[in-house]
Amino acid sequence: MNLAFEAEGLVKRFGKTTALAGIDLAAGQGTVLGVLGPNGAGKTTAVRILATLLRPDAGRAAVRGVDVVKDAGRVRRMIGLTGQYASVDEDLTGMENLVLIGMLLDLCRVDAKARAAELLKEFGLAEAGSRPAKTYSGGMRRRLDLAASLVGRPDVIYLDEPTTGLDPAKRDDVWNIIRSLVTDGVTVLLTTQYLEEADALADDISVIDHGKVIAHGSPAELKQVVGGQTILVRPTDPARLADATAILAAVSGREPESPARGVIAVPVDDDTAFTTVVGRLDREGIGVTELSLRLPSLDEVFFTLTGRHTVEETAA
Ligand SMILES: Nc1ncnc2c1ncn2[C@@H]1O[C@H](COP(=O)(O)OP(=O)(O)O)[C@@H](O)[C@H]1O
Ligand SMILES: [Mg+2]
Repeated sequence: MNLAFEAEGLVKRFGKTTALAGIDLAAGQGTVLGVLGPNGAGKTTAVRILATLLRPDAGRAAVRGVDVVKDAGRVRRMIGLTGQYASVDEDLTGMENLVLIGMLLDLCRVDAKARAAELLKEFGLAEAGSRPAKTYSGGMRRRLDLAASLVGRPDVIYLDEPTTGLDPAKRDDVWNIIRSLVTDGVTVLLTTQYLEEADALADDISVIDHGKVIAHGSPAELKQVVGGQTILVRPTDPARLADATAILAAVSGREPESPARGVIAVPVDDDTAFTTVVGRLDREGIGVTELSLRLPSLDEVFFTLTGRHTVEETAA
């Protein structure tokens, strides 16, 4: 497999803090690697090293075979970076921000303007492009950040928690943008705190904790490790609760629980269980007001892998 980027044994210390304790990451060209971990796990540090913004204390990293330390200039021309804390200038308009980046990337003004206009249109910011970025909503800002990282048509793009703090509709916009990038053949490193996001977008997921990879695999493999998914059903008619419970029990082979009044839930091991449940509810004429397949949260994944919760209780 042709690797778009790879990191091997990266170590990075800040004073007494070991941010990375020998991390390995890799993605084939045109794939999405999800790097999943709680706050402080080392995600941003790893991204910064791969983006040539930080030198590792040990280990090596390369983008399309080009070393990020020895040949940082060449690496920078191949990558785009959207930071957790955005890099656009608040006082400039969306258009001005993108033109400025284009010119920093050695485009002439005419080409920089053309590229900026193209990106603004693609990201639904054509009209907002003439307004200062500080007037943008959170979702618009995130889209401008993404556009900014794409000005130079990078082969590899690092998205550091691109949806943290966005509401679900805006998160979907960003997901669609990421999907279209991948369709265009771009390789993506996506850091996230949400298993659901990694599951929706990534080909492979590396779960990291304290600067180390503690699990790696496809989304399906990881879900297997953490005990799959949970089906949740809320019958419209509470009188049908017992019938719905019987269906869930039969399909899952487990005793359903009731996490809230009128709702039943049961863990399932494979993806086909959901469609089976939908079919049986339908056949028995049980209407539902809620029906969902919920993935484990990062916290549940974490607890399974480490025996700890993501937010550790610190002894006072
Ligand atoms: N510039 C820095 N100086 C000191 N400590 C840092 C610096 N950057 C990161 N750290 C520490 O390194 C660890 C990993 O941080 P980071 O890579 O930002 O994690 P994440 O992005 O997963 O939240 C944390 O303990 C953080 O406090
Ligand atoms: Mg971070």
